[in-house]
Amino acid sequence: MALLEVDRLTKEFRRRRGEPGHRAVDEVSFRIERGGTLALVGESGAGKSTTGRLVLRLIEPDSGGVSMGGTDVRALDGRGLRAFRKRAQMVFQDPHSSLDPRVPIAVSVAEPLVVHGIGTRGERRERVADLLDGVGIGSHLLGRYPAQLSGGQLQRVAIARALATDPELIVCDEPVSALDVSIQAQVINLLTDLQAERGIAYLFITHDLALVEAFADTVAVMRAGAIVEQAPVDRLFREPEHDYTRTLLDAVPYIGAPAS
Ligand SMILES: Nc1ncnc2c1ncn2[C@@H]1O[C@H](COP(=O)(O)OP(=O)(O)OP(=O)(O)O)[C@@H](O)[C@H]1O
Ligand SMILES: [Mg+2]
Repeated sequence: MALLEVDRLTKEFRRRRGEPGHRAVDEVSFRIERGGTLALVGESGAGKSTTGRLVLRLIEPDSGGVSMGGTDVRALDGRGLRAFRKRAQMVFQDPHSSLDPRVPIAVSVAEPLVVHGIGTRGERRERVADLLDGVGIGSHLLGRYPAQLSGGQLQRVAIARALATDPELIVCDEPVSALDVSIQAQVINLLTDLQAERGIAYLFITHDLALVEAFADTVAVMRAGAIVEQAPVDRLFREPEHDYTRTLLDAVPYIGAPAS
């Protein structure tokens, strides 16, 4: 069984009452295996972030379903929903806005542990140091505030925070697009290593196809709310079937070029 199964998810947004809705996400279906990576690509406004938020139940769909490890996520409430929030986490594009600027980074990383009542104070302190060490943030930085770290360091902190509850799935919404290109590869390598160590699955949202080839195993191409093509990464890059996918690939000239 796949870890995550998303079945015909649909979400409309209405600007005003009575006005017809705009389908931001239109019958989107996909699955992600345990330890696998699905890249969700497409232009701005395609509905990628909305899909990620629906999967994590940060917003409610109009119709369609999400199941994780056989659990119907839409049916959860109370304790069940809390348990789900431990299993599925999110990393956003901008760590400056996802980490509280008023508290030291160690406090931000400890927060999910506190929220879910994991460990004693001492155990949490040790776990936070381990988590940060695991993403390459040394213990001398534990007391620093977000403004005192670089963008790349902060994204590592955000990843450590997402890892705190030992999730099975992380939705990464453009996790490196705010970073310098030289730093992007380091953060991608970190995500790859963490996946190999912990068997985490990723829903990796990006508009940057260049990142996808090395990182994802399956790619879903989204346009105007719908998935127009979905295929294993090599097949999508070698034999795109949909014109829109070809247009996206053509915009990244060095991808799929035959090795010389
Ligand atoms: N809370 C909201 N209220 C109204 N409309 C929304 C809301 N969130 C998203 N939308 C609309 O839904 C559509 C999809 O937005 P979404 O943010 O999911 O796109 P995206 O693919 O993530 O784009 P980007 O690459 O720019 O991040 C857009 O037309 C957007 O304006
Ligand atoms: Mg988005």
